[in-house]
Amino acid sequence: MSSQRRVLIDTDTASDDAVALIMALRSAEVDVKAITVAAGNVPVDQATSNALYTTELCGSNVPVFRGAAKPLLRTLQIADWFHGKDGLGDHGYAPASYKVEQEHAVSAIGRTIAANPGIEIITLGPLTNLAAAILQQPGIVDSVSRCVVMGGAPCCEGNVTPAAEFNIWVDPEAAHIVFQSGLPIEMVGWQLSRGAAAINHGDVARMLNLDTPFAEFAIRCNSSAEQAFYEQTGEKGICLPDPIAMAVLLQPKLCLESSEHHVKIETTSELTRGMTVVDRLGVAPDQRNRHIWSSSLASRKVRVCWRLDVAGWKAALMTALR
Ligand code: BDR
Ligand code: CA
Repeated sequence: MSSQRRVLIDTDTASDDAVALIMALRSAEVDVKAITVAAGNVPVDQATSNALYTTELCGSNVPVFRGAAKPLLRTLQIADWFHGKDGLGDHGYAPASYKVEQEHAVSAIGRTIAANPGIEIITLGPLTNLAAAILQQPGIVDSVSRCVVMGGAPCCEGNVTPAAEFNIWVDPEAAHIVFQSGLPIEMVGWQLSRGAAAINHGDVARMLNLDTPFAEFAIRCNSSAEQAFYEQTGEKGICLPDPIAMAVLLQPKLCLESSEHHVKIETTSELTRGMTVVDRLGVAPDQRNRHIWSSSLASRKVRVCWRLDVAGWKAALMTALR
């Protein structure tokens, strides 16, 4: 029997998602059973086409499934201003010859988890597909050994609003369902990809020196994202939240500091829509707060990653692009 860990990837494939897919598809550690796609950064057809392009680039035969075209209850809000209209920096990549599977992503998630007890999941986009799969088959949560979520801005500012990070903000109702579901969630927030974790000029030079199609694509398809990140934060470099989450999935030790907390997703306020509210001091069960937190107190705590091994993450990326 294979010693590889089995993984399912849910993604709204744009530029940083594509790099995360390369990391997983080129890793000997994991056997990717399915890539499921939801609308998010770009509409779902474009995201699916980007996932197919990336699997073809890697010569992988992992099946790709198209899923939700919009959030559970809300209008879709995309981030093409960040990733480019095609999500890959608008360099005119030709469509892949690989074809999408006929089965819907939500059904593929349920079937793949049921067939692979102990499977690990990683979500790189809005949580629409996973929430829908849980609503259809609540029992699947017991078969998942880890669920790494790239999403949220724990105890800090977000990238879409002062309160919220994109993946959670796009579909907060889906995030609420997933965070309450009992899945063993490991939250890798957007803030971990900022500052020293962003890919700087020296890193880019080292990657391009590898002279592989993977390194060239990873850098090039993030050109628009690099510019948008600078305009958004004033920080230089390529910010790669999805590949960082993937690095943590592949090598859990890259998360240097984490702790478990109740986490609640804001779904009603306009001001703080999609906020990932972390009960960091454990005050939620207090009499004053209990009525607000009661449903969350009953559900499993979320492991929040606070600190990343930056050198380790960059080394993992280099290895993947070799
Ligand atoms: C997340 O939003 C998207 O723009 C990225 O692909 C990543 O999943 C970061 O907030
Ligand atoms: Ca993403």
